[in-house]
Amino acid sequence: MKLDGKTIVISGAAGALGVVICKSLAERGARVVALDVVDDAEATERFWELPIKPYYFQCDISNEADTKKTLAQIAEKVGMPDVVCCHAGVVHVEKVQDYALEQFDELMNVNVRGAFVLAKAAVNQWLGAEHRGAQLIFTSSWVHDVPWPEITPYTASKAAMNALTRGFARELAASGIRANAIAPGIVGAGMALKTWNENAEYRARAEKAIPLGFLQPPESVADAVAFLSSDMSSYMTGSILTVDGGCSLYPNI
Ligand SMILES: NC(=O)c1ccc[n+]([C@@H]2O[C@H](COP(=O)([O-])OP(=O)(O)OC[C@H]3O[C@@H](n4cnc5c(N)ncnc54)[C@H](O)[C@@H]3O)[C@@H](O)[C@H]2O)c1
Repeated sequence: MKLDGKTIVISGAAGALGVVICKSLAERGARVVALDVVDDAEATERFWELPIKPYYFQCDISNEADTKKTLAQIAEKVGMPDVVCCHAGVVHVEKVQDYALEQFDELMNVNVRGAFVLAKAAVNQWLGAEHRGAQLIFTSSWVHDVPWPEITPYTASKAAMNALTRGFARELAASGIRANAIAPGIVGAGMALKTWNENAEYRARAEKAIPLGFLQPPESVADAVAFLSSDMSSYMTGSILTVDGGCSLYPNI
């Protein structure tokens, strides 16, 4: 899956999964542009191990002005993006009866509103430049339609993200813009690994929930992003690509 000549922007890029995706895309020849809310010093630290460093722009994707400005800078300094990955996301683990509304709002603000803001800004840039053949990739999750205790607002946010994927795909197909999503499982990195390590009850449940029997390697998510970013996916739009080791086959756990 060669990505030579493609400019790929990814939000939440300084996170556990984001760094692995940046590495994989760059190794396949893409020009990778990383966005995250963390400052430059923190980003440098997160990316220091990567053999090919991505371009980095600090950007809060829930802030429309900041996001539009950042995409304009990227077009000027790096080039018009071919793919924009709406990947940033947050999770809070809490029982529904105890879930603070501030946390609910914060989660929706990043996972749904932020994804919409970034996707909308990218679409406006592409339409303005009459740039056809571009693609949005959203990072959903296997829990988008499988209830999973203590993360109900997160599962709702991922269901909303799937709706965004299909909506953008439907509305923009005639303009030559595609939209697809990836639904990973329980990844051995980032938010899931943290909960796995800190919450014994979650771990016991998760261990039973993965049919393939082991935590998902983050590289498998990066492979899916690379596949969708490549010309091999050119007839796909509105798809939710499940890459979850079979987790979504066990909806009753
Ligand atoms: N780790 C998993 O098991 C798993 C499984 C399925 C889906 N996902 C999804 O993958 C994505 C990344 O997850 P992760 O595990 O790497 O999490 P992570 O917490 O390690 O990374 C998330 C990144 O998003 C950034 N971010 C937060 N708010 C932002 C904002 N407003 N603007 C820009 N960046 C912002 C954070 O700074 C962080 O670097 C999320 O969308 C998550 O829902 C993760």
